[in-house]
Amino acid sequence: MEIFHIGAECYPVAKVGGLADVIGSLPKYQSGLENKVRVVIPCYQTAFRLENDFECVHWGKLKLGNFNFPFSVLKETSNKLGYELYLIEIPELFDRPNIYNYKDDIERFLSFQIATLDWILGRNSMPDIIHCHDHHTGLIPFMKKYCPKYEKLKDIPVLITIHNGLYQGIFTFNKLYYLPEFDLINIKELEWGNCINSLATAIKCADEITTVSPSYLNEINHSGTGLETLFQQVRHKSKGILNGIDIDVWDPYKDPMLEINYSAETIDEGKQKNKEQLCALFNMNPTKPLFSFIGRLYNEKGADLLPKVVSSALTVFKEEINILILGYGDVEIENQLTQLHSIYNGNYGVYIGYNEELAHKTYASSDFILIPSRVEPCGLNQMYALRYGTIPIVRRTGGLKDTIIDLEENGNGICHDNVSVEDICDSIQRAVDLYKNKEKIKQIRIKGMNTDHSWKNVSQEYIELYNLIIAKRL
Ligand code: GLC
Repeated sequence: MEIFHIGAECYPVAKVGGLADVIGSLPKYQSGLENKVRVVIPCYQTAFRLENDFECVHWGKLKLGNFNFPFSVLKETSNKLGYELYLIEIPELFDRPNIYNYKDDIERFLSFQIATLDWILGRNSMPDIIHCHDHHTGLIPFMKKYCPKYEKLKDIPVLITIHNGLYQGIFTFNKLYYLPEFDLINIKELEWGNCINSLATAIKCADEITTVSPSYLNEINHSGTGLETLFQQVRHKSKGILNGIDIDVWDPYKDPMLEINYSAETIDEGKQKNKEQLCALFNMNPTKPLFSFIGRLYNEKGADLLPKVVSSALTVFKEEINILILGYGDVEIENQLTQLHSIYNGNYGVYIGYNEELAHKTYASSDFILIPSRVEPCGLNQMYALRYGTIPIVRRTGGLKDTIIDLEENGNGICHDNVSVEDICDSIQRAVDLYKNKEKIKQIRIKGMNTDHSWKNVSQEYIELYNLIIAKRL
């Protein structure tokens, strides 16, 4: 089967969040004798682009309303990623250092989608399935279905995976003329809330929809995305499939980003030595339990609660614990977290930015990882943490609920229900008590390390779904 994954990010090529980890790893596990897997993302100005070799396999000129943009399709030549990587190079729109947050993001990602379809249209063979990810690719199912220009692609089944329903790619009908020509009778397919809504369009037009965990699929029906009634209408073609992780990249036994590797057998010494190094960097005492947060600093992730959690926990537990925060995002939260450093220096570290290596080191060194999300479609951090023998402290929501069971129920982590500083601090209290019981904590860590969250089985679940969609179309 020939599978095309299309999205905005892909690790290690270009990453902002978990979306990149998924697009960079699921295809690897799908590739094999029976499947030819290709990943298509825009060509940003990233280190990966500069440091690797590419050949140009196609060039053309895309039309976005009255604008014409030259584009080329670059194929990565070493094939070292385990799948074929293609970058859509539209220099005027993507040759920039960041992935998102430009005022022409709508023009950028719509052009990306048009260029991708133009290229696929010109190829000799057609994919068996197109797998789109998030709203950046949400108009592909529509254009393919209704624009006569892409008539030849009409029968290719398409699946959209929703990694985060809060982001929808919304724009006004003034920009309707950007789309290739189609019969206006179908205009309602683009509309949600009087605007063009890329995610809503994908939900309407795709053959099948997946969310990245089963619980998120239930929550999305009433979760404040504004698309609730739409989701209720498409239950018959929706499925929640829990993400997996790349266990080659995330393996404490051979992770090249760690100076000290360890396995379940050497967990105590391994984690302690990593912790000593990390604590030295942040001026913390490595004999105390280390609680970390790794991620984007947004309300959605519960990051707005962190400044209060830091001050409450470090006041209550005074010298008993260390807290480390790695992340970036909301400037207000960044500033508050940075300011706390002068007060709690010695028990508190903060790193504002994105640093993959530091993240790996933090998973290895931490005793507990804090994941207080308001919304978490899947969450990969808890799975990385388990793999590194680090105990997750999570709010029960979305994928966190599907992967972490409270220790009171003989599970693998500490859970609470409310989005509140009190609930998080209560969980920290339980963790502090647990830390004193060395035997028990070791048992829980090892259990986490031995849990299989790899893509092995999950990638097969996607293949079965593709087969089902293909069969339905026949
Ligand atoms: C988004 C979601 C996160 C999920 C990731 C990968 O970043 O917020 O929960 O794990 O996508 O699917």
